[in-house]
Amino acid sequence: MLTLTQLARFFHDLAFTTWIGSMIFMMLVLTPAVGGKGIPPQFLRLMGIERFKNWAWASIVILTVTGTYRLYGRFYLFDLFVMTSYGKLMLLKISLFLMMVLLTAIVSFNYAKRIPAEAPQKPGEQPTPGFLRMQRRFISFSTINLALGIIILFIMAIIR
Ligand code: HEM
Repeated sequence: MLTLTQLARFFHDLAFTTWIGSMIFMMLVLTPAVGGKGIPPQFLRLMGIERFKNWAWASIVILTVTGTYRLYGRFYLFDLFVMTSYGKLMLLKISLFLMMVLLTAIVSFNYAKRIPAEAPQKPGEQPTPGFLRMQRRFISFSTINLALGIIILFIMAIIR
């Protein structure tokens, strides 16, 4: 019989694989393919910058719900929990996760619409300096977010 704990573990794993896996794809495949080539916004949309943010938010919600469920009952007293190395690492993980949520909010509310809208409209058209600046910032935020995700994966590898 399938238990709630097993389901929570499955959806937790599915959510972080989807989120971090998509970030790795964006960073290793999509960004180098697009990088400053003046690709028109229709293609950027097709390549998924706007769509990706919906999956990121869905993953954040699933991770929060399943993570909280898995954490629930792990500690009776907060003071005792934070004295253990497990508790310290878990709190570090949650703090890094909150930073990722903040960066995701900046990227999805600020850049996800503006990048396709302000990208060069025709193939071969030069991107404006403002667009290139925005694109660089978008790439930096995404890189930091991916680095935080990888640190969390490392924390979970050494937590026990
Ligand atoms: C980017 C976000 C996150 C990533 C990459 C991540 C990753 C992981 C990984 C790799 C595991 C171990 C594999 C497993 O047992 O499923 C795990 C377990 C766990 N996660 Fe997360 N997680 C994230 C967010 C969260 C959040 C927000 C919470 C709490 C609110 C949370 C709480 C837990 C708990 C309690 C466990 C079980 C640990 C244990 O077995 O003792 N996670 N997570």
